[in-house]
Parts: sequence; C-alpha cells; structure tokens
Amino acid sequence: MSYTIDLKERVALVTGGGSGIGAACAELLAKAGARVVVADLNAEAAATHAAAIGAQARGVDVASEESVTQLFDEVEAEAGPVSIVVNSAGIAQLPKSPEEMRQSSWDRIIAVDLRGTWLVCTQAGKRMAGRGGGSVINIASIAGSMPGPLHAYGPAKAGVVMMTSNLAGEWGRSGVRFNSLSPGHTLTQFIRDKIEAGARDAGPLEDFTALGRMVLPDEVANAVLFLASDMASAITGVNLLVDCGASITGGWRPYGWVPAARAQA
Ligand SMILES: NC(=O)c1ccc[n+]([C@@H]2O[C@H](COP(=O)([O-])OP(=O)(O)OC[C@H]3O[C@@H](n4cnc5c(N)ncnc54)[C@H](O)[C@@H]3O)[C@@H](O)[C@H]2O)c1
Repeated sequence: MSYTIDLKERVALVTGGGSGIGAACAELLAKAGARVVVADLNAEAAATHAAAIGAQARGVDVASEESVTQLFDEVEAEAGPVSIVVNSAGIAQLPKSPEEMRQSSWDRIIAVDLRGTWLVCTQAGKRMAGRGGGSVINIASIAGSMPGPLHAYGPAKAGVVMMTSNLAGEWGRSGVRFNSLSPGHTLTQFIRDKIEAGARDAGPLEDFTALGRMVLPDEVANAVLFLASDMASAITGVNLLVDCGASITGGWRPYGWVPAARAQA
C-alpha cells in the first residue's frame, strides 16, 4: 500500500526558505501540492529558489514586527489564507566564550532566532485560530537541549521549543497545531562546501551520532511535511528530534562509545 501526502493547494509560508533546510522544506511542500511562499532576508536567494520550485518569493526580516506583519498581510491578500508555516529563518553562531562574545552578536541571534520566531508564530497563530486551523513548525536545534559553547544560539533554540509548546496549548482548541523540530548537524550546501574546503572537520560531527553521519536537509523536510500534513493531526506541542541519534549517545561515553557496525552476514 502506498500513501501520498497531498497538501491540496494549501498556502505554505517558509521563512528562511531561500537557503539550506528552509529551501529543502519549501521544495518538498511545493512537490506535495502546497502553494509555497519563500520568505527570506536575502530576497535574491528567495526569488531564485522560488523560481526554481514554482513558488512565490518575499523579502522579510523576521526580527522586525513591521516586516512580519506586512509579509502576512501581503501574502494573504495575494495567495490566500496561510495554513502552514515553517519557521526556518535563523542565524547560527560560532563557539565563543562569554569573554569573547560581542553583546551585539548575542542580541542579534536572540532577535532573529527567538524574537523572529515569536513574531511569525503570533501572526500565524491568531490568523489561523480565527479560521479554525493550521500547522506551524518551528525549526529549533539539538543545541537547545544539549549544553555547549553556543551561549546565544542554545538559549534561543531552547526558548523556541518552550514557546512552541506554550502556543500549542494557547491555540489548540482553535485547531492550530504548533510543533518544533530539532535537527542535529545538517549537511547543508554551506557546511558541505566548508568540509570540502578543509575548513570544517566532518569527523566529530558524524562520530557523535548513533547513525554515524550527519542529517540531510531532505530528511528534515520529510519530517516537516509530515508535521504539516493531516497525517500528524493528533500531534501538537512536541519537539521532534531529527538528529541521527546525536542526543542519545552521551550515555555510551563511560562505556567506550556506541558499538561499531556489525559485520554484514
Ligand atoms: N544546518 C544545521 O546544521 C542546523 C542544525 C540545527 C538547526 N538548524 C536551524 O535550521 C534553520 C535553517 O538553518 P540552515 O542551516 O538552513 O541555515 P541557512 O543559513 O542556510 O538558512 C537560513 C536562512 O535564513 C535567512 N535569514 C537569516 N536571518 C533572517 C531574518 N532576519 N529574516 C528572514 N530570513 C533570515 C537567511 O538569509 C538564510 O536564507 C535555522 O533556524 C538553524 O538554526 C540548522
């Protein structure tokens, strides 16, 4: 038996859709029949990707309340009511000690990754609640639950997870589902280029996962499509880990590490 997810021309807005994980999500949602709007700070990247996948494009700065409100007003006027939102817009950070980290950099990461997600979620939630339904998927990160040297990014993503479950309760009776998805290290083109140029060592990123490899952007998109669709109609307020098992290997450290692959029979 086969089953195809059909989003039946639902309007899907993907922030950060011009690149990486957001671009993969936009492409898969379009393939599943949604009318996709690719929204990105990089308007050129949004336009290029949208043209390639048969979507519309918009420039937006998710950290700006005015910009986000305008985005929703314009998209809904032109494409119709938005019933799927994927929040993938975000900025990463390099590992930095508190002594090294500039306050302006900390502030911008919080403004985009946490405040930006809040602004998009609240626009989406109140509009969807007024229409009786919708699905919002926030791209968080395993850095939101695994402590490390990402002193702005980690707390921002932890906040995204909590915000998502709060909003799932807030608008659940109105039929709006809110879920977050926490990818592990994902082999986007950006990271692939860095590895190929020798600027990043893939070894440690692969070794600390149970599956021994990094996540692919399409694998995140597959999970996003599931959460967006009616296949996930009873799922709200969860944080779905799509991390190749990065978050479950820590307990193996005292025992030498996860076992190597078994010999194939
Ligand atoms: N790549 C990974 O390993 C990884 C792992 C876990 C979580 N994530 C999260 O996934 C999301 C996408 O990451 P990615 O690796 O695809 O990054 P990316 O840089 O390829 O894509 C992010 C996109 O967001 C856009 N953007 C940045 N600031 C914005 C703003 N203020 N308003 C609107 N758009 C803005 C960028 O222009 C870019 O197109 C991010 O939220 C990131 O934190 C990534």
